[in-house]
Amino acid sequence: MTVLVAYASALGSTREIAERVAARMAAVPGGVECRSVEQIESVSGYEAVVVGSAIHNQAWLAPAWEFLTEHGPELAQRPVWAFSVGMSDGLPKLFRGRGAELQKQRLEQTQLKDVPLRSHAVFSGVYEASQLSAPLRALFRLTGGRFGDLRDWAAIDAWADQITAELAEPAPPQS
Ligand SMILES: Cc1cc2nc3c(=O)[nH]c(=O)nc-3n(C[C@H](O)[C@H](O)[C@H](O)COP(=O)(O)O)c2cc1C
Repeated sequence: MTVLVAYASALGSTREIAERVAARMAAVPGGVECRSVEQIESVSGYEAVVVGSAIHNQAWLAPAWEFLTEHGPELAQRPVWAFSVGMSDGLPKLFRGRGAELQKQRLEQTQLKDVPLRSHAVFSGVYEASQLSAPLRALFRLTGGRFGDLRDWAAIDAWADQITAELAEPAPPQS
């Protein structure tokens, strides 16, 4: 059966990460489909689901959150991997790793808490200076923050490869 890679993206960087994950997993038996969460009516025809969202104001975008809520019972019956896309690699160096970790924990304790996840990765996306007001932009730069395309494609590929490897493992016994 096919693997679904579903995404919610406001400005496109999360969609491109989802497309990269799907392309990287293209050789899995049954193939991979990559779709916006808003295009998905049911996940029942998929063997496994990878779902990701941009982070806005410390939370997943509303369509991704709605996807988890609406399809929760079906998601619980198949392996699910999640990824969140923020800008922690743009933070001043001292806070980068800790920022991503805190964000991961916060999301897992809130919006992701009812979905059993095989794993949850936090990636950085694209953070443009135009996304902040001029005073905040200046302050952000002064404290060591950086803007731009922060995506770590090697880490994204490695995560997709890990999912591919887990899918090839025998299914764990049902409890
Ligand atoms: C209005 C707004 C709010 C954001 N809030 C956060 C946030 O709370 N945490 C974070 O890490 N990144 C935040 N970001 C950065 C985005 O997550 C980042 O730019 C990401 O690449 C956006 O994905 P997209 O291009 O798929 O929309 C925010 C961006 C915008 C425009």
